[in-house]
Amino acid sequence: DINYPEQEILSAFANPKALCYKPDPKGLLSARTAIVKYYKLKGIFINIDNIFLSASTSEAYTLLFKLLMEPGDSVLVPVPSYPLFEHLAQVEGVKSISYPLYFDGGWHIDFYVLKNVCKKNTRAIIIVNPNNPTGSFLKQSELTELIQFCKNNQLALISDEVFCDYPHYDDTERVNSIAQINEILTFSLNGLSKAAGLPQLKLGWIVINGQGELYHEAHNRLEFITDLFLSVSSPVQHALPTLLDLAPIIQEQILKRVLSNYSWLKKQIKAESVCRLLPVEAGWYAILQVPKIITEEELLLELLIKDNVIVHPGYFFDLQTEGYLVVSLITRSDIFQTGINYLLSRIDRLTQ
Ligand SMILES: Cc1ncc(COP(=O)(O)O)c(C=O)c1O
Repeated sequence: DINYPEQEILSAFANPKALCYKPDPKGLLSARTAIVKYYKLKGIFINIDNIFLSASTSEAYTLLFKLLMEPGDSVLVPVPSYPLFEHLAQVEGVKSISYPLYFDGGWHIDFYVLKNVCKKNTRAIIIVNPNNPTGSFLKQSELTELIQFCKNNQLALISDEVFCDYPHYDDTERVNSIAQINEILTFSLNGLSKAAGLPQLKLGWIVINGQGELYHEAHNRLEFITDLFLSVSSPVQHALPTLLDLAPIIQEQILKRVLSNYSWLKKQIKAESVCRLLPVEAGWYAILQVPKIITEEELLLELLIKDNVIVHPGYFFDLQTEGYLVVSLITRSDIFQTGINYLLSRIDRLTQ
């Protein structure tokens, strides 16, 4: 299984400083210094004052909805993508408006529809880069168009970059992070959940960027909101420098497994197969297109009840039509292969 450096992780929490409560609304300086270093290793230079810690990326979204929107305002969210946006928005009294990503061998933002669904009371657009579950990166040309779109409509750009440490291969056309973009108001989100494979530690962060009065106002208000909650625990903040130093050891193992599961899966889907494996640029998931003999729900229930195999239906992620299953590539390889063999035989039986 993934070999977590357990002793080092546990020792990071044995810091006596954690017994003292000296909160900072942005997060402790030592924790934010570690985040500056995390970006520097990627060649991205962040101002330490632009970092705000949060108790997970999910919480970061709610902080940003509070910051940018009044009840009744709207936010643009990609589909297919992470299924929590609608609900995260709803609990803040905000409406989520979907904009589509389309697939033509790769995934792209449908700018035509995006421009048409944007309303007067829309305040921000979310991108997930790389996206879950499509595993697709935003491209440089798309970023240029997005920045112009945000300028035209006075929108903030929120970029969820939790899977950025898991590219499957290199491509210079990709946008790895928007953390340095300041032509418009931007927020890039990340956290320990994926960067160190430690979701239970509940630590995420926001990097804010922008220019002029709007940026200063947003910065001050975000500090006011985080000061209200002071939600990130001191022990995890004190542990962060060590945890981020250990992160590459964990990332390396996860990425190795994800790549090997994906390449094994690719070999199983022969040219004559009734299933199709969609290409993946990054992340922990793969999408399988399957024949629409029964509904996704019926198929996954058959797999669960008859074969003990768990997969997600495409509709969880708002894939536009039926006939898609999302499989997790982080499953231990022997279990993954058994599960896929069951899945493919079940589909074979259904199509005969
Ligand atoms: C795209 C994306 N963003 C955010 C999260 C949640 O991260 P956190 O555990 O930091 O709330 C997930 C979890 O799977 C995710 O897929």
